[in-house]
Amino acid sequence: MSIQRQPAEILSRLQELRKLDAPTHGGRVLSYVYDSGLPQIDALAADAARMVQPLNGLDPTAFKSIAVMEREVLQFAREMLSGDESVVGTVTSGGTESCLLAVKTARDLWRSTHSGSARLLAPTTVHAAFQKAAHYFDLELDLVPVAQDGSVDPAHLIARLGDDVALVVVSAPSYPFATLDPIAEVAKAASAKGISCHVDACIGGWVLPWLKTDPWDFSLKGVTSISADLHKFGYSPKGASVLMQRDRDRHRMQFFATTRWPGYPVVNPTMLGSKSAGPLAASWAIIAALGNAGYQELAESCDRSTVSLRNTIDSIEGLKIVGKPVGPLLAVATDESVEAERRVDPHHWADQVRANGFMLQLQPGLVQSDGSKLPRTTHLTITPVTESILAELEQVLVSCADEVRGVAPVSGEQVLSALPFDPASVSTSSAATMNSETAWALLQSLGLGEDSGLPTQMAPLIALIEVLPHELSERLLAELLARLTEP
Ligand SMILES: Cc1ncc(COP(=O)(O)O)c(C=O)c1O
Repeated sequence: MSIQRQPAEILSRLQELRKLDAPTHGGRVLSYVYDSGLPQIDALAADAARMVQPLNGLDPTAFKSIAVMEREVLQFAREMLSGDESVVGTVTSGGTESCLLAVKTARDLWRSTHSGSARLLAPTTVHAAFQKAAHYFDLELDLVPVAQDGSVDPAHLIARLGDDVALVVVSAPSYPFATLDPIAEVAKAASAKGISCHVDACIGGWVLPWLKTDPWDFSLKGVTSISADLHKFGYSPKGASVLMQRDRDRHRMQFFATTRWPGYPVVNPTMLGSKSAGPLAASWAIIAALGNAGYQELAESCDRSTVSLRNTIDSIEGLKIVGKPVGPLLAVATDESVEAERRVDPHHWADQVRANGFMLQLQPGLVQSDGSKLPRTTHLTITPVTESILAELEQVLVSCADEVRGVAPVSGEQVLSALPFDPASVSTSSAATMNSETAWALLQSLGLGEDSGLPTQMAPLIALIEVLPHELSERLLAELLARLTEP
């Protein structure tokens, strides 16, 4: 059969479509993307992925290069995370899959010696992937409130370690506020009670090992598993993470195997069946190219930029950095110690910064289970490329704060009173099961959903998320995203 349209024509359409995307390179987007600033690394990754394009990662006995590459990536990760030879692991498709598998493994281990229902214990700031894991794997999610500055009191977590805890999760660092959780204390207490302790180092795993921090890895005996994403500070294209498990027997609980069907025997260490070997090959090639020394240099570049940005933001009247961030990320909140007209709302600031060419990430305020409120913040992830545009970025951060200083934050009451419907009339249960037509009508009454789906000013949208009942905002966001890809 002859092909119907010429490759050049198809690729030229893709080139047009790519113009719709936020810039992935150059440091203008301070979340989602991790630019090493080394184009040769990206080219190497693309070449490696292309070489394995036809392979099926389902079966490393048929495609033996996959087993070799995975073994070498895991060897590097084991040393990086201070693991001894008892530490083994798996390359997964990303942070969420590593987190899901860590939870599934711990749950299955717990069930092998317990019965009844189990809890997943973590601070409020643990990544949402663990909420998903609790939901998927039928665990009760026990989220322990953190302090206003994002810090976790180890005593609060330790007090909740009980026989029904299948897994306690701590982060290195947490995404929202870049807090390095009290891992040594929690891991020690968990270990004394025979409870599994996972360190979520999805974001920190491939950068903190080259920076000075308190210990958080397998050097702590009570740490039983660690997730660390290659597609973040490992600089791999999306689709790669490692989940390392302390000891073979724990790791084996991660697998799903069945010989109970009339097809080929299925043995999967990960959630997927057939899968691409591309992200693995790309990661393997990048690790070979960078080595320890390369990662060290890139981590130091991130660190220099982070220190500089922290100094700049600290000097901006009306804003403050939340807590004690660890690693190349930070969150910025309003400094409430200055008078109202000198304050800067972090979301107005982020919108203004975006209008001036840099995308920061808006994080909503959140009421925790004990009623305490965590501040609304703006998140920045700093990557090696940041250093090349640091002066411009800092100038924009300062001038945009000047432009929005004193502008009142979008208030919850304001948002609620402007709503074209009464959210109280939508019950919690009816929000979750709301049909698509009703959800779409509500979105449209809010002025959302047309064109690209999201407004250019994000502050009012995030304020809406802060005030709507979670069930309703979750349902509406699912509708918004689903409509984006409907044919
Ligand atoms: C600490 C942490 N855990 C888990 C994840 C989820 O990773 P992914 O988006 O690769 O699924 C992230 C993503 O930012 C993260 O920062």
